[in-house]
Amino acid sequence: MFDYRSLFDLTGRSALVVGAGSGIGQASALGLAAHGARVYCADINLAGAEETAAAIRTHDGEAETLFMDITDPESIAQGLEGIGAVDILVSTPSINVRKPLLDYTPEEFDRVIHLNLKGAFQVVQAVARGMAERGRGSIIVFSSIRSQVVEPGQGVYAATKAGVVQMMRALAAELAPKGVRVNLIGPGVVETPLTEQIKQHPEWYDAYAQRNAFGRWAQPHEMAGAVVYLASDASSYVTGTILFVDGGWLAIDGRFEPPLPSS
Ligand SMILES: NC(=O)c1ccc[n+]([C@@H]2O[C@H](COP(=O)([O-])OP(=O)(O)OC[C@H]3O[C@@H](n4cnc5c(N)ncnc54)[C@H](O)[C@@H]3O)[C@@H](O)[C@H]2O)c1
Repeated sequence: MFDYRSLFDLTGRSALVVGAGSGIGQASALGLAAHGARVYCADINLAGAEETAAAIRTHDGEAETLFMDITDPESIAQGLEGIGAVDILVSTPSINVRKPLLDYTPEEFDRVIHLNLKGAFQVVQAVARGMAERGRGSIIVFSSIRSQVVEPGQGVYAATKAGVVQMMRALAAELAPKGVRVNLIGPGVVETPLTEQIKQHPEWYDAYAQRNAFGRWAQPHEMAGAVVYLASDASSYVTGTILFVDGGWLAIDGRFEPPLPSS
């Protein structure tokens, strides 16, 4: 009989988590390690990555730290040199410059595109080549609800988050025959350093909390289940998809509760 108990078991798998020094990347690394993967925690923030690796080791997991800047192909190649075969890749790094499109400078546009779109492309391409050669692997890239719905100030960020979805769908089609799966996760609002700016404005923070079905923000660890699922054999027939972990944000319009007969 098929061994259903091993569905989420990552023992013996090697995972590279880029962006592991903070927020969702950190939670992804902790989640993968807890299910048995050896995790390489990569970031430009080495101290943050080391903190994550240390937390994994404290809980008897296997983790190592490495510097990797996904905007720099040299840095990606150097980082990959020391770590051998990668079975699971998680890529999180992104920035958001919130500004009306009419005020965006070419430099700001380039900066957001360079990390969110080209950076993701570069690290995925470098890792996927080895996976395709070995005939196995799972790639997980972080998109956002902003790939689907927008608001003023999110134009360029949203374009990168939608763009990365189409790019990874194409890669999923290209690599499925080689045994490599490619998927995305679309968070709603998650309390991390990326969204710290919003927390400073209670009205803004509360509006986002009320916009989803649960009436609250997510914590980073609430993204880890989706990561473990997409990394593991539990999702062996899943590729080219985006899994939204958004508290129902995209399902409801959330602005108004119509009066209903009481039950
Ligand atoms: N936090 C949210 O509410 C939210 C919502 C929707 C989508 N997302 C997406 O989730 C992902 C993770 O977001 P987060 O909130 O954890 O962000 P974060 O800012 O907390 O973490 C990003 C990490 O990436 C690292 N990084 C930045 N540039 C890098 C580079 N060039 N090379 C390697 N590492 C680099 C940073 O040092 C940091 O450790 C992003 O793709 C983001 O768009 C987040």
